[in-house]
Amino acid sequence: MSHPSPAADLMAAMRRFASTVTVIALRDADGTRNAITATSPTSVSMDPPSMLFCVHRDSSLRAALADGRPFSVNILAANQEEVARLCSSKLRGEERFTAGDWRAEADGVPYLGDAEAAVICTTAQIVPFGTHDIVIGTVDLVHLPEGREPLLYHGGRYAALAPCSAEDCP
Ligand SMILES: Cc1cc2nc3c(=O)[nH]c(=O)nc-3n(C[C@H](O)[C@H](O)[C@H](O)COP(=O)(O)O)c2cc1C
Repeated sequence: MSHPSPAADLMAAMRRFASTVTVIALRDADGTRNAITATSPTSVSMDPPSMLFCVHRDSSLRAALADGRPFSVNILAANQEEVARLCSSKLRGEERFTAGDWRAEADGVPYLGDAEAAVICTTAQIVPFGTHDIVIGTVDLVHLPEGREPLLYHGGRYAALAPCSAEDCP
């Protein structure tokens, strides 16, 4: 008889964890852009303003992050599911940039002009743990377009926010 492992149970628990969907984007030293979909980003501290995300050690972003390349954390809007799918697909590098209003900072960091928010960061620290690296970045700049709704991920599916009132929320 097989027993569920803590890892399998954690995966099941995380499927119940409703997340905001982000895309982390950067420009490699050779000028090509790269991006991955990630639900791990969160803020760390407001002093200094900082964010972290967890990235698999096999990720194509790893070398650029280790080189200290700046990156953007783009908090996706509800109409950006295609961007999320592209950036978690088998496509590589520039092939992931065929959807979305991609723009570039003066130093070349790619960010989405039509995201809910785009947070531009400089890597401050990378902490290896298990199969992943925890990447901590200090925040240089934040773009905050108005009037967007968030894209969510829950139970292996993309979803949109449905605000509830006291009457219809159990
Ligand atoms: C909703 C969603 C959230 C994800 N979150 C993360 C994450 O936080 N960290 C991570 O390393 N990969 C995450 N992934 C997986 C990567 O997006 C995916 O493996 C991607 O293909 C990696 O690209 P790469 O192989 O070019 O590094 C997530 C995928 C999806 C669909």
